[in-house]
Amino acid sequence: MQEFLTSLSDVRQLSNDALQTMQIKRLRQTLTHVYENSPHYRAKFAEAGVHPSDLASLEDLKKFPFTTKEDLRSQYPFGLFSVPMEQVTRIHASSGTTGKPTVVGYTKADIEHWATCVARSIEAAGGRSGDRVQIAYGYGLFTGGLGAHYGAEKLGCTVIPMSGGQTEKQVQLLQDFQTDIIMVTPSYMLNIADELDRQGVDPRELNLRLGIFGAEPWTNAMRQAIETRCGIDATDIYGLSEVMGPGVAQEFVGSKDGPTIWEDHFLPEIIDPDTGEVLQDGEQGELVFTSLTKQAFPVIRYRTRDLTRLLPGSECVMRRMAKITGRTDDMLIIRGVNVFPTQIEEILLKFPTLAPHYQLELSKSGNMDAVRLHVEKCLGAVADEVAVQSNELVTQIKSYVGISCALKVHDVGGIPRSEGKAKRVLDNR
Ligand code: DLL
Repeated sequence: MQEFLTSLSDVRQLSNDALQTMQIKRLRQTLTHVYENSPHYRAKFAEAGVHPSDLASLEDLKKFPFTTKEDLRSQYPFGLFSVPMEQVTRIHASSGTTGKPTVVGYTKADIEHWATCVARSIEAAGGRSGDRVQIAYGYGLFTGGLGAHYGAEKLGCTVIPMSGGQTEKQVQLLQDFQTDIIMVTPSYMLNIADELDRQGVDPRELNLRLGIFGAEPWTNAMRQAIETRCGIDATDIYGLSEVMGPGVAQEFVGSKDGPTIWEDHFLPEIIDPDTGEVLQDGEQGELVFTSLTKQAFPVIRYRTRDLTRLLPGSECVMRRMAKITGRTDDMLIIRGVNVFPTQIEEILLKFPTLAPHYQLELSKSGNMDAVRLHVEKCLGAVADEVAVQSNELVTQIKSYVGISCALKVHDVGGIPRSEGKAKRVLDNR
């Protein structure tokens, strides 16, 4: 067996036994690597009374301690790097909402593996060598732009490194450069679709064939809306900077049944977010990753805070994850009811006179939480129909999600547009 799987056909041919053999070998190497090269991990292992030699099977991973965002913060900026700084060829960081960014590093080999994972992801999404790929994820410290870029180049695509923003220009390039594939957040794709409408361009007359969307939660209802409106196949790409960036998992275009986790590089677990107990495949909980091939910034049992389930492989032996419903830290508790913005999205998208742009505004009314949902009517929608559908939206949110909300219907363009990750919640409590 070759050491690293390169193409998607290698992945498809892999047997379960071969995958597990590869995982255990790489897991041992990773645990040993951090134990020998990272004082932080060595101290954490000592505190938990474990040593890399305690790993006899993949199940033994649960003996090892979790890594959290707080571990990363406490080692700001480079304290968790497990190679000398001279071997770090790239740094990325995620901004977070408060405080210092989370900093991650990559060796040359890490960048190579990342490009392989993203190239594989684009191929699974239906892309091929020679396709023109417009990258509208932001370039810079965010992993989206450069991560997608190196992968697309590796697959042999022609890269259009547009970055996020400049929506009119995005549209111009889609037309003039005859882009085949766009990689962008789903919320910004909607923004681009609105701009196509504004300019009177029919998306179906473009060359655009595929959209590879991620970096934020989005629903299957949103997928359908984008596919129908733009005449493309839309698939889900997942990743996070702490683990690598985009391309930790990717959905296959033929099945669109949730992202397949590239398990030759990342070992997933699902845990109960409150107790830390490891849950069975199929059970909903917090996604945890251990990297299997990373050198500069390996992570052991990193708690992503993303909520999902592990599902059996469908296109290959590697497992899938269900679409992310939300993050533990995004979950709103409104008068005791747990609410994720994706639940609202799913209902909103049933109403054709209302646009798929939305924000939830939270405030206090006395001691009680109050919620106002901001939505927008579609261009050309008839006022009476908007009124009927708005009422029905509120009723359905009450019956399916369990919260009463006030609704504000804005005119076209009334909801702020994102150029990257959408801001769905305004918490004024
Ligand atoms: O968002 C990496 C990325 C870039 C992924 C481009 C896909 C495409 P961070 O900024 O570190 O990295 O944010 C990671 O974004 O923990 C999830 O909460 C969320 N996220 C990423 N992809 C998806 C997805 C990039 N497909 C955080 N569905 C993650 C739902 C996603 N949430």
